[in-house]
Amino acid sequence: MLRPTPLLVLRPLGARTLTLASHAYLPPGPKPGSFSGPAPTAGAGPNATAPPNAPAGIPHASVASSPQPSTPTSTSPPTSNAPETSGRDRATAESPDLSATERRLVEGIVRVDHAGELGANWIYRGQKWACQIRGDHGTAGQVEQMWDNERHHLNVLTRVADQHRVRPTALYPVWQGLAWGLGAAMALMGKEAAMACTEAVETVIGEHYDDQLRALRPLIAKPDAHPSLPLLAKVLEEFRDDELEHLDTAVEEGALKAPGHSLLSAVVAAACRVGITVAEKV
Ligand SMILES: [Fe+2]
Ligand SMILES: [Fe+2]
Repeated sequence: MLRPTPLLVLRPLGARTLTLASHAYLPPGPKPGSFSGPAPTAGAGPNATAPPNAPAGIPHASVASSPQPSTPTSTSPPTSNAPETSGRDRATAESPDLSATERRLVEGIVRVDHAGELGANWIYRGQKWACQIRGDHGTAGQVEQMWDNERHHLNVLTRVADQHRVRPTALYPVWQGLAWGLGAAMALMGKEAAMACTEAVETVIGEHYDDQLRALRPLIAKPDAHPSLPLLAKVLEEFRDDELEHLDTAVEEGALKAPGHSLLSAVVAAACRVGITVAEKV
């Protein structure tokens, strides 16, 4: 059955506040903005060792494949003369003690989001390549803007995965190839098809982030919730809003005019849902 066209999310670009939750994970210095900020440095993850096939344009997705000890600074107990810094370190560097069920939930969320952001980076990479091949440099520029956001998302989720000691998806090369192929194939069909791809992907991802936020609520509601958990929720909220901005952009740029829009949209959305289900486990 074909999926109805999603409703637009009415939120103007640039309406974000300057202090974004995800910036807690970035080193001091200029912060990448929601849409117009400079691109974050590729491969800025905590255990940054780029795999041999990692391209220059995408932050590599390598996180610790086995539990990594936190730095001595980050595990130091709070001291009375630096409560704010210690609180931030706990939120961004400590891995909370969780029950087995809670642990499974957090692991699933972080792994699938990390894999999703990796896929998004490769979709936009494929789209940009195809737009350039078609000589459509205007669309390539718009794709690059959204890709900037995805680089930031992947950088931050790489750090979150490292903090929570979540191994990355074992399907890195699979996501890489499928996502690049999807982005490239759709963008070779034309600008509207490229935007229909973005619209479908971002719709599914936006909904998925919302589902995760609902699932996290009971953990965050606990009076003794570790500060990393509300921070994780804020990061997911921020990223969901970014994805919905991408969705708005895609619709504004003609996604609905793509030939066979309903069918394209349904196929891409179904592929994303399968990817999410697999990535939560593998
Ligand atoms: Fe993203
Ligand atoms: Fe996105």
